[in-house]
Amino acid sequence: MSRAAPCSTPTSCVRGSRTLQRKQQGRSLLARALRGPGLTWRGVRLVRPAVSQPPLSSNALTGELTALLRSPVTLTSFGARAQRIEELEAHVIERLAVVGAPLPPELHALHAEALALRERLETRNARFVERLRARIANGAYTRAGLLRAFARLADPQPGVPGYDALDELFADLFDAGELPELHAQLEPEMVAYQPTPARVILALIERAALSCEDVLCDVGSGLGHVLLASALLSGARGVGVELEPAYCAHAARSARRLRLPQLTFMAADAREAPLDEANVFYLYTPFRGQLLDDVLARLKREATRRPLVICSYGPCTPVVAQARWLEQRQPADLNPHELHVFDSVL
Ligand SMILES: C[S@@+](CC[C@H](N)C(=O)[O-])C[C@H]1O[C@@H](n2cnc3c(N)ncnc32)[C@H](O)[C@@H]1O
Repeated sequence: MSRAAPCSTPTSCVRGSRTLQRKQQGRSLLARALRGPGLTWRGVRLVRPAVSQPPLSSNALTGELTALLRSPVTLTSFGARAQRIEELEAHVIERLAVVGAPLPPELHALHAEALALRERLETRNARFVERLRARIANGAYTRAGLLRAFARLADPQPGVPGYDALDELFADLFDAGELPELHAQLEPEMVAYQPTPARVILALIERAALSCEDVLCDVGSGLGHVLLASALLSGARGVGVELEPAYCAHAARSARRLRLPQLTFMAADAREAPLDEANVFYLYTPFRGQLLDDVLARLKREATRRPLVICSYGPCTPVVAQARWLEQRQPADLNPHELHVFDSVL
C-alpha cells in the first residue's frame, strides 16, 4: 500500500450518522491519514478504480455492484464490519463517484443502499467502541484479555505496509472530540503527523517487553496512540514529546477518558524537551537530517546515565542503525515497515 501522504491541516471528512460526523470532524486528520489512496486491508489491496479504466456499461456495473452489495457476509465482529465498510467505500461508493452525477436510477438506488448499509455498520461499531471504552474506564478488563482482543483485529502479516481493523478501533477508542486548530510551524526537516500502524504498537510492546517498570517516551507523539495503547496493554508510564500543542491536548484528554493517569504529554520541541525520565524511546520518523542527528546525540548523552532501549519505525531506522552507541536486536534488517529495537551499549 502506498501510505497516505502526511496531512498537515485538518479537513472535515463528513459521512455517516450525526454522531459519527462529529467524531470524524474531531479526528478528521487521522481519518484522512487512515483512508489514503490505494489502501490495503488485511494485506488485500482494495483496488480503487483508475479514472482511465474502460467504463462498464450501466447494466454491467449495476450487476457487478448488486452482487457486491448483496454478497452474504458475516458481520458479527468489529473487524468484519470495518472490513465491509472499506469494501463498500472502495468498490461501490467511490466507484460510483467516478461515474459522476446524475446517476441512472438503478445506480442511484445502489448508491443509497451502500450509504445506508455503511451507516448501520458504523453505528454498530461506534456502539461497540463506546462499550469498550466504558469497560476500560471502569477497570473492567485485564491487560491480557485486551491484548488478545486487539491482536485478533491486527493484520498478522509482519513487514507489510498499511493499516487494518485495529487502526480503525484505535482511532475510535482514542478519539477525544474535536481537534483544536493546529499552531506548530513544522520546519522542513520535521515530519507531519501520521499514526504508527496499530500492529506496530503491539510489536513495540512485545519486543521491548514493556511493563509497569518502564517509562516510554514517544518522540513526536502526535495524537498519543503509541502511549495510550502501551499504557493500556503493559501498564508502562509514558511521556509524549510533541511540537503541536493541539495534539498534546487531545492525547491528554484521551488519557483522562480512559483513566490512564500515568501518561503526560509535553508540548515541546524534541531538541529541548527533558528526556531524563524514560528508559525506552520510540521514534516513528518524527524528523530527518540534522534534526534527527541532534536528537540522537541527546539520546546518546542520556545513555551515558542509564541503559536505554530505542525503538524505531519508518525511514529513520537506517539513520538510527548507524549510531555506534546502539546495538540492533535481531532481526537486524532495515525494513522500514517493521519495528526495530536497539540497546544502548555505552
Ligand atoms: C510521523 S508522526 C508520529 C506520531 C506518533 N509518534 C505516532 O507514531 O503515532 C511525527 C510527529 O512528530 C512531530 N514532530 C515533528 N518535529 C518535532 C519536533 N522537533 N519536536 C517534537 N515533535 C515533533 C509531528 O508534529 C508529528 O506529530
